[in-house]
Amino acid sequence: MTPFLLLLALPIILVIFYFQTQNPKHAKEELPPPGPPRLPFIGNLHHFDSRSPHTYLHRLSKKYGAVMSLKLGFRRLVVISSAEVVKEIMKSHDAVFSSRPALITFKKLPYKGFNTAFLPYNDAWRELRKISTIHLFSTKQVQSFRPIFKDEVSKMMEKIARDAASSAATDLSEAMMSFATNAISRATFGRRLGDEGYGKTRFFDLFHGEKPLLGGFFVEDYLPWLRWIDSLSGMAAKLDKNISSLHSFCDELIEEHMNPNRPESMEGDVIDILLRIKREGSFHLTLDHIKGLLVDIIIGGSDTTAASLVWALTALMKKPSSMKKVQAEVRQLAGKKEMIDEEDIEKLPYLRAVVKETMRLFPPGPLLLPRETTKKCSINGYEIEGGSMVFINAWAIARDPATWENANEFVPERFLAADHLDVRGQNPEVIPFGFGRRGCPGIGIAMSEIELALANVLCKFEWELPLGMKEEDIDFDYISGLVMHKKNALRLVPKLFFA
Ligand code: HEM
Repeated sequence: MTPFLLLLALPIILVIFYFQTQNPKHAKEELPPPGPPRLPFIGNLHHFDSRSPHTYLHRLSKKYGAVMSLKLGFRRLVVISSAEVVKEIMKSHDAVFSSRPALITFKKLPYKGFNTAFLPYNDAWRELRKISTIHLFSTKQVQSFRPIFKDEVSKMMEKIARDAASSAATDLSEAMMSFATNAISRATFGRRLGDEGYGKTRFFDLFHGEKPLLGGFFVEDYLPWLRWIDSLSGMAAKLDKNISSLHSFCDELIEEHMNPNRPESMEGDVIDILLRIKREGSFHLTLDHIKGLLVDIIIGGSDTTAASLVWALTALMKKPSSMKKVQAEVRQLAGKKEMIDEEDIEKLPYLRAVVKETMRLFPPGPLLLPRETTKKCSINGYEIEGGSMVFINAWAIARDPATWENANEFVPERFLAADHLDVRGQNPEVIPFGFGRRGCPGIGIAMSEIELALANVLCKFEWELPLGMKEEDIDFDYISGLVMHKKNALRLVPKLFFA
């Protein structure tokens, strides 16, 4: 270029440069999301609070915004904390945000190539999700579980009635866990696994205890060269032991089903159906597919439901006016009926609002399940790199005062007033089941169990505090893992209610 031409082009170049740097959208797009300052190698790990990640990340997001980035060892973490941004992901980037990171617990699970919940976004996941959508989560299939759920509710009520007869307190945390595990395990693999003994103790430590293993914090996930810390703390050995127990447990269940002398309760359960499909060869289905599905059900299907039931009762005990209102509603409908049925639930708007409000304030998975981006994309004007781990802070979003009036208060009426608002993944303001491709496929099962169990225990019993305990003593302390449970068991004294 001659000096004359250069002179001519210079103003044009300068004008283009000016507009490019002045356009805030463009300037922002070049940047990763903001976040707290990091140290070399460990990034933000030194102040990451693994005991309560959702509240810790919520505090940070107040400073750094609704899209924020952290570095946890070698992993890039992006945290989403507003309904607006979730809406943008739902609308324009659902596929990009649909993978899962390869965390150590996920990698060690048995049949890891066949767990819907933890597979990356690939063909194997698509195949498995299709199989489970048809054979486990379809409306027809869920309806077929109803008699089992009802029977399990009735068994739980008998147990509570025995406590009532002897004026003893019921440990509702224990009762709900047993109910939810028995209901789902009986429906899907013909066994009641929620009672002491057989299955319960074999995978209990995966979910519970001071440090839940599943969804727990492992140094290896972020600083692989320091994995010896997990060994020193005993976490690694404990995880291996539990995983191997879960593994052999799944094998035994399948063997039992294949035995011609199996218990009658296994006839027609989900495993039975899947084994038949496999024999008939009408679907490309392997034993590993079936076992992977089993692990999904054990992990996804009991804890979450039990936790929600305990939170609902806790919130109602703390708010006697709501307790009165919901009990009046269910009792009026029940009349002299022995039990409330699934078909009655439609006619109980306040009960349904209580369940939704519980899921808003106490989502069992406050950060959903971790996601991973499949490629680079732009969100809210920031550049997100492919392969970033993503936490969606459903807990913070559902308590955002910009969306919710008296956001931290338990007010079921808000769902009566806003009929269109649901918790099933369509409304970004309240997403306890996640959303989009990776959203929870078990919503139908979960809601069916929760509403039925809650309606009946509220109808049949008056609930009182144990002697010496006051309403203020009921706490909302929680323990975080894959599922957020109430930390201290909920113990209440039941009294039989006579209509
Ligand atoms: C109150 C009950 C439940 C809650 C709150 C819940 C919540 C969730 C959440 C937050 C996710 C992640 C969603 C996302 O990443 O967007 C999820 C995924 C999943 N849930 Fe649930 N869940 C519940 C009950 C169940 C039940 C009863 C089952 C099965 C019987 C189940 C099976 C699954 C599976 C298989 C996935 C993985 C989906 C995938 O990655 O493709 N869940 N659930």
